[in-house]
Amino acid sequence: MKYNPVEIIIRKRSGKKLTREELSFFIKSYLNNEIPEYQMAALLMAIYFKNMHPDEIQTLTEVYINSGKRITFPPDMPTVDKHSTGGVGDKISIVLAPIVAACGAKIPMISGRGLGHTGGTLDKLESIPGFRTDFSYSQFKKMVKEVGFSIIGQSKELVPADKRIYALRDVTGTVESLPLITASIMSKKIAEGAKNLVIDLKVGSGAFIKKMDKAEKLAELLMQTGKNLGQKVSVVFSNMNSSLGEYAGNALEIKECIEFLKGKKIPDIYTITKMLAVEMLMLTEIAKDRIEAGNMFGTVLENGKALEYFKRFVQAQGGNPKICDDTSLLPQSKFKIPIISSKKGWVKSIDTQAIGYALIEIGAGRKTIESQLNYAAGAYLPIKVGVFVDKNSEIGRVYCDDEIQGLSVANKIRKSFLIIPSKSEYDENYFKEMELIYGLENNLDE
Ligand code: URA
Repeated sequence: MKYNPVEIIIRKRSGKKLTREELSFFIKSYLNNEIPEYQMAALLMAIYFKNMHPDEIQTLTEVYINSGKRITFPPDMPTVDKHSTGGVGDKISIVLAPIVAACGAKIPMISGRGLGHTGGTLDKLESIPGFRTDFSYSQFKKMVKEVGFSIIGQSKELVPADKRIYALRDVTGTVESLPLITASIMSKKIAEGAKNLVIDLKVGSGAFIKKMDKAEKLAELLMQTGKNLGQKVSVVFSNMNSSLGEYAGNALEIKECIEFLKGKKIPDIYTITKMLAVEMLMLTEIAKDRIEAGNMFGTVLENGKALEYFKRFVQAQGGNPKICDDTSLLPQSKFKIPIISSKKGWVKSIDTQAIGYALIEIGAGRKTIESQLNYAAGAYLPIKVGVFVDKNSEIGRVYCDDEIQGLSVANKIRKSFLIIPSKSEYDENYFKEMELIYGLENNLDE
């Protein structure tokens, strides 16, 4: 071995900047199984605590990308992608990709599985009977060209470094690190070959980033890394103080996506999806202005074209497209346990991260790399911050296969709501602030 892995771990633990050679050696040796999981986990924890210099983050991203192949598309193809930094109930990619593809964009999307307390797009999609996310580089390229979009996972060919390290971070408490998030997201997004990228940067109690100052730092790192590697990146900051939509849990969210594509108006899903779609249509210059982009979004939702694209996508990736007509073909849970409010008043805050971790207990996410998911498990969570609830009213429901576990999860979710008996002007402003969404863009020409 060229280096001693322990010395590299100790150098990072002491806050030193690792060189390209050291990072490249460590990650290559890990992928070749010459460095064991426990040493990789130790390095990740050292990075978590000691952070990385922006140059080091750039190098780490490049090492991730170079661990596999890099896809290219013809320069005149309007390629664009979106990636979320992660949240509870975040199913936006699954409705956004068919909408934007139906408007004429091509979307090569490499996504992730559940991470920490958040769900993952790949796990949600794999709850569709037969659906696959493990396609080869060339099959992926073909689907993007022919179907308009494809959503697959990291593989031995595409960003294998992120595939292994992502799964390890999920179960070692090393997710909430700006350098690790940046390298993980940007490596996938550069390797997949999209020329344009919109980041949905989630901020709040259910996100990895809880405060705006840290979110702005992450946005800067993502935009700068994209710029250095020739990708145009826009960042939209969006609220993750309540879980997104009405459901959290793999198959439950697929059902919700189908209902949305069929025209059900779910306010937060609608607002954030429209905002991201407009951004993607502007970056690709498919729309000449935001008004035209907004109209295109409305049209493909209303005339059924977005749903048609979704069906074609499910079929192309091996899934049963009949789920679009009959959602009872999706996995179903044995029990539905109501979550009952013990107080009357306004929801001041929700510990959305605690909800995400509670859902892992019934199999909606993983505790170890080997954990088996229960695709039907999850929760109905219609109540958002700022909403009024009555004592003894149903504020949600747990979907599970084990009644005892379900009761305990329902209790944990109930306790994650902070309910105040009256609301002041201060609270009104606070609730408005919690709804804010706004955006930033890197400029490749500057
Ligand atoms: N999404 C990713 O792909 N990686 C992260 O680290 C966080 C969100």
